[in-house]
Amino acid sequence: MEDAIDKRALYTLSYGLYIVCSKKGDKFNGQVANAVMQVTSDPVVLAACLHKENLTTECIRDSGVFSVSVLGEDTPMTFIGNFGFKCGRDFNKFEKCSFETGKTGAPLVLEHSLAVMEARVVKEVDIFTHVLFFGEVLFSRRLGEGRPLTYAHYREIKKGRSPRNAPTFILNEMP
Ligand SMILES: Cc1cc2nc3c(=O)[nH]c(=O)nc-3n(C[C@H](O)[C@H](O)[C@H](O)COP(=O)(O)O)c2cc1C
Repeated sequence: MEDAIDKRALYTLSYGLYIVCSKKGDKFNGQVANAVMQVTSDPVVLAACLHKENLTTECIRDSGVFSVSVLGEDTPMTFIGNFGFKCGRDFNKFEKCSFETGKTGAPLVLEHSLAVMEARVVKEVDIFTHVLFFGEVLFSRRLGEGRPLTYAHYREIKKGRSPRNAPTFILNEMP
């Protein structure tokens, strides 16, 4: 019998790749996420869907703010590895990464970033394994030219995969 969920269908969805950051007290953290998008224009609201176990989720719940850094196509895999396959509970991801503290207090990753934006959480939705944060954008800034990194480029050209906490985890087996 045919599978009810055809992963080839899900694989046609398009995403960018971002670093979503936040803070808890004076501790900064951030993670790679593909599940980020703009959902309204007035006010400008972003949605970001993060796994409940992630330290970044804990930070956003604590501070009520998050930032999004838009990664460029030439972002090295080692950089994505640090932010996307490791947890900030085990080491400080900001030790070897250039960043600044944003106006909301959330860290902004500057390295390999084409743009940064800062948002204040206006709504939080529990969705099974994840939390969907809606954040009103208070500040945004373009940092450089270049092409944003897409999930398709990450998979097809960089040959990258996704860890268990990523929504795209189930697409790892796609050729
Ligand atoms: C390509 C890629 C896409 C990812 N997308 C998401 C995502 O949209 N949401 C999510 O919760 N985790 C996503 N992740 C996984 C997190 O980045 C990963 O679990 C990270 O280790 C969490 O770090 P933290 O515990 O320090 O917050 C993705 C990872 C990669 C490599």
